[in-house]
Amino acid sequence: MKEVGQEPIRVLFVCLGNICRSPLAEGVFRHLAERSGVAEEIVVDSAGTGAWHVGEPPDERATAVAKARGVALKGRARRIEPVDLAEFDYVLAMDRDNLSHIEGMRRTHGGEARVLLFRHFDPEADGDADVPDPYWGGARGFEEVYDMVHRTCAALLSHLDGVAR
Ligand code: 4NP
Repeated sequence: MKEVGQEPIRVLFVCLGNICRSPLAEGVFRHLAERSGVAEEIVVDSAGTGAWHVGEPPDERATAVAKARGVALKGRARRIEPVDLAEFDYVLAMDRDNLSHIEGMRRTHGGEARVLLFRHFDPEADGDADVPDPYWGGARGFEEVYDMVHRTCAALLSHLDGVAR
């Protein structure tokens, strides 16, 4: 994906609580990068726009759906900070509310990151679409979110591979 000596591509996934959608995207994207042999060439992290769950591990329903598919979720919830918009190449928002929060932060603090909706890369999305928030629903919602996140992360990895070559 990158030439020897080049910097890794840095990708940050952002949702509201940083315990459901963005940790799933982080875990799945890292897993796919490892499976493709390009894990050394990317840096992946996730964050939330809200602070309610800061310091907590991912939601156990997210952890369970990922584990059932061989993907381990790591990390503790943190809040997005202005410096993230300078340090990451891509900042991908799970929904439009997250996107407008990040864009507001950028208007105030600047930063060169490419800020996009995550599902911009979803081959099955009809235009730019949100990843629905599964937090208040049941396990089924997490399954649907997992599938959406998985196919979108696969497409994102191919896109970045194309960009880096
Ligand atoms: P996430 O889900 O943004 O996908 O992590 C949520 C987690 C927590 C809350 C909302 C959404 N909450 O209101 O606490």
